[in-house]
Amino acid sequence: MTDKARVLVVDDEPDIRALLQLTLSRMGLGSVLADSLAAARAHLAEGSYALCLTDMRLPDGDGIELIREIQGLPEELPCAMITAHGNVELAVESLKAGAFDFLSKPVDLKALRTLISSAVKGQRQPRERRSRHLLLGDSEPMRRLRGMIAKVSRSQAPIYISGESGTGKELVARLIHQQSMRADGPFVPVNCGALPTELMESELFGHRKGSFTGAVADNPGMFVSADRGTLFLDEVAELPLHMQVKLLRAIQERAVRPVGAPREVSVDARLLSATHKPLEQMVGSGEFRQDLYYRINVIELKVPPLRERRQDLPQLIEHILRQQAGAGALPRLDAAALQALQAYPFPGNVRELENILQRAHTLCEGSVIGREHLQLPDSPPTLPAGPTATGTSAHGAAPTPLEGPLRERTIATPAPADLDQHLEAIERETILQALEAHRWNKTATAKALGISFRALRYRLKKLEME
Ligand SMILES: Nc1ncnc2c1ncn2[C@@H]1O[C@H](COP(=O)(O)OP(=O)(O)OP(=O)(O)O)[C@@H](O)[C@H]1O
Ligand SMILES: [Mg+2]
Repeated sequence: MTDKARVLVVDDEPDIRALLQLTLSRMGLGSVLADSLAAARAHLAEGSYALCLTDMRLPDGDGIELIREIQGLPEELPCAMITAHGNVELAVESLKAGAFDFLSKPVDLKALRTLISSAVKGQRQPRERRSRHLLLGDSEPMRRLRGMIAKVSRSQAPIYISGESGTGKELVARLIHQQSMRADGPFVPVNCGALPTELMESELFGHRKGSFTGAVADNPGMFVSADRGTLFLDEVAELPLHMQVKLLRAIQERAVRPVGAPREVSVDARLLSATHKPLEQMVGSGEFRQDLYYRINVIELKVPPLRERRQDLPQLIEHILRQQAGAGALPRLDAAALQALQAYPFPGNVRELENILQRAHTLCEGSVIGREHLQLPDSPPTLPAGPTATGTSAHGAAPTPLEGPLRERTIATPAPADLDQHLEAIERETILQALEAHRWNKTATAKALGISFRALRYRLKKLEME
């Protein structure tokens, strides 16, 4: 039973089969060759394999069919698809069907070896390690999310993590990395919103010493730093269009060209991305490139807002208080405080809960946190724009006094002494209503308000409504 691991190679071209067989044997792996789907099925029925490499077009069907069938087998078998060069749709389709990666023809030997070793290595040490990061919550949506995380961790597909601000998107990204076969490699988070525009290219793709003023040393860049690991593009919606083009190229070529470097450097990094913005709508309004969107969003994980899983609150509260108390006495919430939190809409989700509890812990002095220590806002806060912002507690949570009036927001009665503030309130309200009416599509909103897109962005920034 301890003979060398075998790879099932499915391709109707004898040259490719020979090339793959040779590469595999040099890596100490055996191969079993099939020239059709039927032959592949027969081999699958009689033996077990460490990996399946399949061509797309086969005389009796296509490789995607085979990949789907393999997903249904009782034993886990990583699959990779070999596609004609540049056929992105098929590559993406194969990832969706369950392939963990794909290669394009002509087969690049280095990429092939990397793919084989990561697949085989991943199998030899199935990863059951306990995670340092805890994604708490036993509600149905969180259980589903954890299941999805476990599933996508096994693949190399790019994952797009969506969800409102503070829901735990970064936590999800870290978990995916940790449970993947890249766990021993680096996890490199990049906050695209925090990179200054002038430095974006060199930060992402690196630069050579002396390539521009201030480049006093070589910088590998985030992509290369994530080699053999995971690159997490956080707030990916913030990338300006010209960087989106460069990013797309880097993903397609699996290579980057550092500023001032003579040639490209190949990179093997898995891509995860996230944003709290409605990326799909940004594609519609031309703010985000559609081709890039398809490339990063092969599989989408939606992180649910806290108000749609209120039953997770007690567990989260206990965990956060425990963390904050450290070695000190563990504070607890009295019934009124707990009830107030159960009714609160949490526009800032788990991060807001952390902040509220931190403040309450500081204010309460004793060991019991009361409602007054929570300092929840009297007026209902505005729910953020977001792909999952439904604005109501549609998922089983009790209707709350704070959520009721959200749809009929009214302008605060003006304090006559403060005209500026009053005007600002009107401006804010007008923009908000227009945004809602146009489903948070800024282009349409600007048009409806009779101002330019730029002017709208400026106002949103000024009013801190971004
Ligand atoms: N399910 C959860 N269990 C435990 N902690 C959580 C959970 N969800 C979020 N957190 C905690 O909440 C905080 C915010 O999470 P995180 O930074 O991942 O959110 P985010 O979605 O990336 O937010 P933003 O959109 O603002 O960047 C972190 O401290 C994280 O550890
Ligand atoms: Mg984040």
